[in-house]
Amino acid sequence: MMTNLRTVVLGAGHYLPPRVVTNDELGPMLNTNDEWIVQRTGIRERRFAEDGTGSGELGFRAAEIALQKAGLKASDLDAIIAATLSPDLFFPGNACLLQERLGCQQIMSLDVRNQCSGFLYGLHVADALIRTGGYKNILLVGSEVQSAGLNFDPSGRDMTVLFGDGAGAVVLGAKPAGEEAAQSGVLACKVYADGAGAKDLCTVAPTCARTPRITKEMLDAGLQYPKMNGKLVFQWATEKMPIAAREVLAIAGLTVNDVRWFVPHQANLRINDYVAKMLGIPADRCWNNIVRFGNTTAATIPIGISELYEQDLVRPGDVILSTAFGAGFTWGASLIRV
Ligand code: UT7
Repeated sequence: MMTNLRTVVLGAGHYLPPRVVTNDELGPMLNTNDEWIVQRTGIRERRFAEDGTGSGELGFRAAEIALQKAGLKASDLDAIIAATLSPDLFFPGNACLLQERLGCQQIMSLDVRNQCSGFLYGLHVADALIRTGGYKNILLVGSEVQSAGLNFDPSGRDMTVLFGDGAGAVVLGAKPAGEEAAQSGVLACKVYADGAGAKDLCTVAPTCARTPRITKEMLDAGLQYPKMNGKLVFQWATEKMPIAAREVLAIAGLTVNDVRWFVPHQANLRINDYVAKMLGIPADRCWNNIVRFGNTTAATIPIGISELYEQDLVRPGDVILSTAFGAGFTWGASLIRV
């Protein structure tokens, strides 16, 4: 059953571990340098969590802030959706760990495994759940500890320079759709996948397709590290994100001129600049945190949205456009009116 309800952002929060890792710190270890990383990616520094701190912990801290901003308690939540590619445990997923850590009721706790598009996939699911009328307040968290899974040998430099650790969260609530033309909340969200690209951006091990799931040979071959066909991903990302952005704008009956903030996934500043140019969005309406945080995968968009709220850069009525592209391949776009 679909109701006359809209999904609104009640609060947002983010948490970055304090340890700053500059390009210069990675340079000698990885046989790379600040100039290459800045030119090709825009990244100047990223954060790494301390050993022993997982994405569950980072997500918990972001969730606590989002709940506080929403003026809600964990006991007010009806569901948790947690997106990560770097969970604390092989199973169960981070959502269950968050449920326990936050002290929620026994509520639906769902893990989303859609990597860089994880936040948009989670938003799509949360929006659908809220519109059914069965769920009032949903916590959506994107959190990653990438540093634990990177190859700090020069052979891994192409991937290792890109990623960082961090978490972002939003608390989503239900609001009856009013009569006014400019409705607030999630105006549109579309997500897609094409598994033909699965092996062009993936981590192979551990794998349940082999017994045992991980062997010394697999470790020696570096199969526990992410690998990517960077040029192909770049091409797909720059093609698919503008298409998805135009689609959500068309669904909402808006144009790019109505967009106050473009908060894209943060994989490469060059990709974001290209997508913004294709869409005709000026630089002063683009929110990029890749320079400071690198690619925090499922956390990039909620960190960006939370930063906008924290720095008082959003006003009621402002429209936020987000796009993402990543492993799967998966991609999508969303439009939220504050
Ligand atoms: O969030 C998930 C989605 N991910 C993305 O959207 C990422 C998409 N891809 C990209 O952003 C870019 O492809 C990269 C930033 C990953 C790489 O940039 P590129 O311009 O495509 O470089 P490349 O992979 O073609 O490598 C160019 C050269 C190579 O050397 P040769 O073969 O030309 O001699 C690499 O070995 O740069 C070399 N290289 C490096 N050099 C210094 C690769 N990584 C590094 C490095 N430092 N870290």
